Amino acid sequence: MTAGSLPPAVLKLRGPCPVRGQPRVPGDKSISHRALLLTGQAAGTSTITGLSEGDDVIRTRLAMEQLGARIEESPGGELVVTGCDLGEPSGPLDHGNSGTGIRLMAGVVAGCDMFAVLTGDQFLRRRPMDRIAAPLREMGAIIDGRRNGSLAPLAIRGGNLRGIRYASPVASAQVKSAILLAGLRATGTTTVVEPTATRRHTEEMLRSFGAEVSVEGTEVRVAPSRLQAADVAVPGDPSQAAFWVIAGLVAPDSEVTVADLYLGPGRAGFVDVLRRMGAAVEVDTAAGSVRSRPGPLTGVTIDSAGLASFIDEVPILAVAASVATGRTVLSGAAELRVKESDRITTVATMLKAFGATVAETTDGMVIEGGARLHGADVDSHGDHRVAMAAAVAAMRAEGETIVHGWESVSTSYPGFADQLNELTNGAAQAEVVPVAG
Ligand code: S3P
Repeated sequence: MTAGSLPPAVLKLRGPCPVRGQPRVPGDKSISHRALLLTGQAAGTSTITGLSEGDDVIRTRLAMEQLGARIEESPGGELVVTGCDLGEPSGPLDHGNSGTGIRLMAGVVAGCDMFAVLTGDQFLRRRPMDRIAAPLREMGAIIDGRRNGSLAPLAIRGGNLRGIRYASPVASAQVKSAILLAGLRATGTTTVVEPTATRRHTEEMLRSFGAEVSVEGTEVRVAPSRLQAADVAVPGDPSQAAFWVIAGLVAPDSEVTVADLYLGPGRAGFVDVLRRMGAAVEVDTAAGSVRSRPGPLTGVTIDSAGLASFIDEVPILAVAASVATGRTVLSGAAELRVKESDRITTVATMLKAFGATVAETTDGMVIEGGARLHGADVDSHGDHRVAMAAAVAAMRAEGETIVHGWESVSTSYPGFADQLNELTNGAAQAEVVPVAG
């Protein structure tokens, strides 16, 4: 299975291997998307440093250029973005594999007097879009798409929106953000009430671009606002750091420190889960760093409380759980079924191939710890996080591992395999092999 338009590849590597060092991780993906969406529509010229170089974010950049934003690289490597009054694109906006890209862009387009078609790769075209289409329609946007307007491609005619008060049935920062971005250009106040708090990047960043935003508990309000240029320094992505942190815990004789991370509200929940597992993790909040070393881990019970703050880290947390002592029970996590892949099935299948004992439930999984992992032949199912979690499991496992669908990793972390070789001093022998399409 290939990740849409990316050229297919497999990763071959060998374990077990110590993972040691201080990897630099890509710029935070959530912040990178928002940096482009906000600078591209703000009045004036902004700069962005540290932007993610993954395909997901590249697609958001291209889409903003199609709407008229001018984005150039300065000789120093920073991006210089000249914002504009966004204009109608002459062709479809292709968001590749990116759920954040398409859903947030739907909110932007809905607010503008324009028609646009938003689409993506074969995996994205299967993911639910009704969660953003329904509230945006309530605000006045006209949205159609496959399956009664619930699947991409989405055809959106925006403009003339009115503010609404929306109680979201899902705890989703993408839903919240799509509505808030549309609300910038609606008449009256737009309010989103979340069932539980999710990452706060949109409200934090909107404020720094001069928008009138207020937050009270899980209720976020935005007033119609014209954004003003602002410079964005994108910190390191904690969700990508989690792969190295957990490699440091599960691979023998390892030690990993990742610094300059965003460890703000809604993103560092995986560290709390690891602490509950008894992991040797040290956090320096001022430096935004997390350090890890191997040590005994115990199974934990994880329910929906706080899940939004580590939802993307479940695949790699599951690797830690598979080698912990005792059982880990995850429940209340049905959202995992509509991520880049059905992560309840794809993570369970991947771990079983390494020799772990895992049972799927409708809204989670039960992992019996204490597995002796062995090398495996696994498939990413087009999901970058399943692929990278498998590569980390391979650092604990005895023998050769092959990860099919490795190309999916380009969506968020193009340099991952090279970095794995650096951190293992070449011992992992990680090799990305192109596959005839
Ligand atoms: C994101 C929100 C989360 C997360 C995704 C990034 C964001 O998705 O899984 O990787 O940047 O807003 P949901 O809103 O679907 O939970």
